[in-house]
Amino acid sequence: MSAYIVISFLVAFSCLYKLLRLLSYIRTAKSTGLPYTLTFIHEFESWAYLTDPVLRWALRSRIMRGRGWPAWARFMVKDWHYEDKRAAHDQFGAVFLVVSPGGMAFIKPPEKMKMLEPFGPNVVSLDGARWRFHLGITLPPFTADNVLGLIWDETLRQVDIMAASWSHSGAKASLKHNVYSLTMNTMSLVGFGKRSEGAEVSGAVPRGHTLSLVESIQSVVLHLPHIMLLPHWALKQVASKAHQGYSELEMYMTELIKQEKTRLDSGVAENKSNRATLLTAVLDANTQKVGRDMLTDTEIKGNIFMFLLAGYDTTANTILFCTITLALYPSIQAQVINEVDLVWKKAEMAGRTELSLAHDMSRFRYLIAFMYEVMRVFPIVLPIARLTAGPQSLHIGTNNHRLPTETHVVVNNTAIHHDPANWLSPSIIEPRRWLVSDPHSFDPTKLRSPQEMKEINEGTMPIPSHRRENEDDYGQSTLAHRKKGAPNRGRTTAQITTAQMNHRLWATGT
Ligand code: HEM
Repeated sequence: MSAYIVISFLVAFSCLYKLLRLLSYIRTAKSTGLPYTLTFIHEFESWAYLTDPVLRWALRSRIMRGRGWPAWARFMVKDWHYEDKRAAHDQFGAVFLVVSPGGMAFIKPPEKMKMLEPFGPNVVSLDGARWRFHLGITLPPFTADNVLGLIWDETLRQVDIMAASWSHSGAKASLKHNVYSLTMNTMSLVGFGKRSEGAEVSGAVPRGHTLSLVESIQSVVLHLPHIMLLPHWALKQVASKAHQGYSELEMYMTELIKQEKTRLDSGVAENKSNRATLLTAVLDANTQKVGRDMLTDTEIKGNIFMFLLAGYDTTANTILFCTITLALYPSIQAQVINEVDLVWKKAEMAGRTELSLAHDMSRFRYLIAFMYEVMRVFPIVLPIARLTAGPQSLHIGTNNHRLPTETHVVVNNTAIHHDPANWLSPSIIEPRRWLVSDPHSFDPTKLRSPQEMKEINEGTMPIPSHRRENEDDYGQSTLAHRKKGAPNRGRTTAQITTAQMNHRLWATGT
């Protein structure tokens, strides 16, 4: 009996506490002057791991009919933006607050970022000066010619393998399975220099290991939620396969780092272009920092893991969305094929029997514009979240608002990409928007003006943001291309930080 009393008391106390907290957050929300709405659970809280699958299952027929989320359920669903497009913003305006009673009890600040560090601190988990320092070492390898060349060559090879496997397997071929293998295999070569073929996991298992390197990468990628959510000691007990992949990859990275350091120390003059992988390029870049602060081995491992994490799903899903769009829009497909034929013709006229990164990549203007357009209509990374480190002023039109410290700011990029104020007829997929001088005034429902036709045909307009960045101008392109007078949405906004994850209010903005 006494147990019932204690439990009832605890439940009542917790409900009262949450109610009081909610009331105080509502008061704070009101003080900002922004529109606000309430939710029991916010998609960023741990409870959303429960509400998300339940609501997705319960409301699946409504979603499949394209009716979006009902207002009461919306914010309890992870990545609700995708199906919602702009509905929430049509209801509440460009920027609004979502107030929930949850908060510090569910998400503890250091743990949230720690989740991203199973192998070590990295460019995503860090902030401020330390983030910039990691970026300074890890960004250059992504723009190094030898790494880009490796990506180009291996992607061509993997696409050939995939096409050959489709011609054998006919109707049994799985687009998703093959595209995921293509991406994984390309990343294992570019990241670590280990080649693998098609959908089959391959590679010898060296002495002292229980998995090949490629198998260990696959295992880590497949078991990411376990590895990121469970503490190390629990991983072994609860998910032994995840633990095996994790330990093996950790061991491989240690060995590869040691090997590469020996090579660098001995000053062996090797043809770098044959061996530059992301790992070796990061180590090379790190060595250039001699005498100054350098990344530790743990930080190098942390960053390489982050490349796997950040690069795998994003790239594979972009290719999948592009492929499906090509199948659904034969006229776009015809234009892509036309461009591929033209690029081949030019290469043959120049006496080349293969396409090359240096000569041909920049000729695929329509293809790049097509990829941008697919990513505009179906943003792959949603949402983008930051936290106000101090009180922050927000100017919307002629109004000034003040966001309190530690407000979660969520940039709803799906809503931005579907805002008619940014893109005319936003739901129409039209790659040529990106080939004219002002993509934002391109109206796909109208005939092209002579000026636009000239720009498209001559191919002289630079495609926005399609340029190499270095750590000094990283993040600036978003600012350079944003519309005049639009709110600053770039990561360079000094007050926005990912360092702490306490939350009370959630500001969703476009
Ligand atoms: C089409 C494919 C990709 C898309 C759509 C994409 C999208 C994004 C977005 C939106 C962000 C910003 C997230 C935020 O600030 O909250 C981001 C950051 C990042 N991405 Fe990608 N990404 C792609 C491919 C890749 C690849 C292939 C890699 C590495 C191999 C990668 C590594 C990173 C890293 C390290 C960051 C964090 C940078 C920082 O915080 O300084 N991404 N990506």
